[in-house]
Amino acid sequence: MSAPDPVHAAGEERAARVERRWAGLAVCLMVLLTGMAAYAGIHRATMPQARVETVDPQRLHIGGEFVESNLGSALEDDGSVTVRAIGQQYSFTPTCIIVPTATPITIRATSADVVHGILIQNTNINTMLAPGYVSVISARFDKPGDYLMPCQEFCSFGHEGMWGKVRVVAKEEFVANAARQRRQSCAQ
Ligand code: CUA
Repeated sequence: MSAPDPVHAAGEERAARVERRWAGLAVCLMVLLTGMAAYAGIHRATMPQARVETVDPQRLHIGGEFVESNLGSALEDDGSVTVRAIGQQYSFTPTCIIVPTATPITIRATSADVVHGILIQNTNINTMLAPGYVSVISARFDKPGDYLMPCQEFCSFGHEGMWGKVRVVAKEEFVANAARQRRQSCAQ
């Protein structure tokens, strides 16, 4: 073995320095991204599912939570509202979801066939509806108004036409209607 020549050694030293710098940068990026994901999750800017809940997509219409008569918005005993909805090629049921202002809302939704998505415009609500799984989303609306709710996952030929709507009404109006009707929706 001959002694390393000085030019080669200097080159190696420089390469090692550059490599260390890139490795340091990569570690910083990982820490930054992990921090951002944790911050977004904790502050509900993104809403990862708290747990996995499954449901048989073949039997949604036969019984259980997502049977047709159980879809729509229901006022719970604690004053919160639970919305249950299904996505299927190519519509949401109900097509128009009604919710009150200033109320904690839990949306529970699933798909009867392929993967769809629920996106409520001008909110951070955006989740996939996968057959076999229940997607749970927390929401709260402060002002009355209509929000468009397009399907945001390509679900075949009719995807472009798969639109729903969320109608936010004054809390008093919602509660008054709830006394007459256990499941509400604004679909025609
Ligand atoms: Cu349903 Cu796209």
